[in-house]
Amino acid sequence: MSSLKIAIQKSGRLNEKSVELLKNCGLTFENYKSSLISTVSNFPLEILFLRDDDIPEYVQDGIADIGIVGENVINETEVDVHYLQRLGFGKCMLKIAVPNESELKNIKDLEGKAIATSYPVILKKYLQENQVNATIRTISGSVEISPGLGLSDAICDIVSTGGTLKSNGLKPFADVLASEAILISKNGIEHNGIIKELMQRIQSVLMAKE
Ligand code: PRP
Ligand code: ZN
Ligand code: MG
Repeated sequence: MSSLKIAIQKSGRLNEKSVELLKNCGLTFENYKSSLISTVSNFPLEILFLRDDDIPEYVQDGIADIGIVGENVINETEVDVHYLQRLGFGKCMLKIAVPNESELKNIKDLEGKAIATSYPVILKKYLQENQVNATIRTISGSVEISPGLGLSDAICDIVSTGGTLKSNGLKPFADVLASEAILISKNGIEHNGIIKELMQRIQSVLMAKE
């Protein structure tokens, strides 16, 4: 049987739980921090360790057959992929946040303001739905320091524990999108036998957790 490739996050919020899920499915593999690819010894699967932001496109284009990634990243990249399974971990909320001392009160107050984010696509849609014109400043990381540097009036970023907001003097302002880890596949290959076998194992692991 020729093997499939699964893409998971190399480091970050979803890495550890993704590895744990695959191990709980009975898969044996080395989890080297330095190696970006690992072969499962007892199942026809190779694991690619990637930046989460690259996973949706890699799966859409078939460079990886399946992947585990946050719904936030899937929505932002606007890919066309198949949702195999919601995984119940990595739950978080994409939120707009403002400095603790900010006087902004409701969405309309964002009119004419600048918002820093790594999620310009999702934020743009949200602002359009709320009929607000604001300037979106796209930055790829450390978004939370942007208001303190005078670069923006607000931010839009992932909040999990809330620790990052707090330590940067920010408070939640509005919820934009709820997210969790999703198992995705390239469109049209969801009936592949190896994927079905893996899905059965994943579903048993998820059921045992309930
Ligand atoms: C998010 C976000 C914050 C952090 C918030 O990053 O960008 O940095 O998590 O978590 P907290 O509320 O628990 O402090 P993410 O893990 O999505 O990684 P990435 O943006 O670097 O891909
Ligand atoms: Zn990322
Ligand atoms: Mg981040």
